[in-house]
Amino acid sequence: MTDLAKRTEALIGQVTALVPDAAWVYDAIRAVPRHQYIPHVGQAWAPDGGIRVIDHDGDPDDWWNAVYSDTSIVTQLDDGATDLATGSGECTSSASAPSTVANLLRLLDPEPGHRVLEIGTGTGWTAALLSHLVGGHNVTSIEVDDAVGEQAGKNLAAAGVDPCLIVGDGAHGCPSRAPFDRVHVTCGIQTVPYTWVQQSRPGAVIVLPYRPGFGTGHALRLVVMPDGTAYGRFPGFADYMMMRSQRRAPGRPPRTSADKHHLTTHIDPRTIAYAPAGADLAIAALTGLASHGSAEPDEDGELCRLWLSDPGNPYSWAVVDWRPGAEEYEIYQVGDRPLWDEVVSAYFRWVSWGEPERERFGMTITPEGQRIWRDSPDRVVE
Ligand SMILES: C[S@@+](CC[C@H](N)C(=O)[O-])C[C@H]1O[C@@H](n2cnc3c(N)ncnc32)[C@H](O)[C@@H]1O
Repeated sequence: MTDLAKRTEALIGQVTALVPDAAWVYDAIRAVPRHQYIPHVGQAWAPDGGIRVIDHDGDPDDWWNAVYSDTSIVTQLDDGATDLATGSGECTSSASAPSTVANLLRLLDPEPGHRVLEIGTGTGWTAALLSHLVGGHNVTSIEVDDAVGEQAGKNLAAAGVDPCLIVGDGAHGCPSRAPFDRVHVTCGIQTVPYTWVQQSRPGAVIVLPYRPGFGTGHALRLVVMPDGTAYGRFPGFADYMMMRSQRRAPGRPPRTSADKHHLTTHIDPRTIAYAPAGADLAIAALTGLASHGSAEPDEDGELCRLWLSDPGNPYSWAVVDWRPGAEEYEIYQVGDRPLWDEVVSAYFRWVSWGEPERERFGMTITPEGQRIWRDSPDRVVE
């Protein structure tokens, strides 16, 4: 076995542990070497959770180890404004972790000959995997960033793979290549563009990372119906960087003193911050609010801080702090909307429903918009 084959089998072993029973996905990974799509300088997550620069020329072993491990590799920071070799910033393009890619592909379940639309070409690796599965001439991949799209084109051409690449906003789809049998979205989505449903055949499958902004992200698998709607459930976790046009302002609002209410609560804020994914989905659907948790050292030990914000109003936010040994927890609430109270009330509604898991929720898309439901499409969460 060659060194590359050994590395590939080791990677597939890691993927299999997280995404079992997906032999056809593992075969695609065998056929499409990941290193052909990774830049010589990138940033990778280290086992201790920190991020490090990987440099093919400076430390080839480290680069190869990162590329053939189940880790995502950052390939662009701050839309290209920050240097990958020296800087830190917001990750705006990456090669997703292979298990994440495998999981979404398994949900997509493309058949040979299917016409597939991918949103977020990134490095081109997923477009190459899709091309292996359905034929390159059947794959259309859209990337919003000029430089990322250009590099993906070079990566794919060098590997001899020839999908149709478009640079533009994937939210518009590609009417001239429609109808699609599968739509594979590799950036985070809060509002599903109806265009993707409109450009798909009845029976088509759309897979996307749903990121409403409250707590964790969720994989969403939709099926397009003959009446032009689509519906489906949330079969697990998925967390990707947001689609450019749906990015949210950074999590922490300014700490102004205006209208600040200082209150206390007996409810441990970790009840909300560490709530199960089903609660996150329900709270997001009921309140439309966003959350952000952080753990910070404090003079009393570890401080766990929960931030709540209203995406529609930057002047409305709340912070709730958990401190070890405290009997009550401090709330700072700014603006007219009592965010903490709304979130707590939504959380306990979810508890009163019997704490349904994420998999019991679903979403329906119509030309008018989207709605979340519990157990069946007629039980809308509102
Ligand atoms: C996680 S990366 C995709 C990884 C990629 N599928 C791969 O195999 O390497 C997300 C990509 O989505 C792109 N993106 C963000 N918003 C987009 C949009 N509106 N239309 C198309 N691409 C978008 C980003 O520029 C980024 O390259």
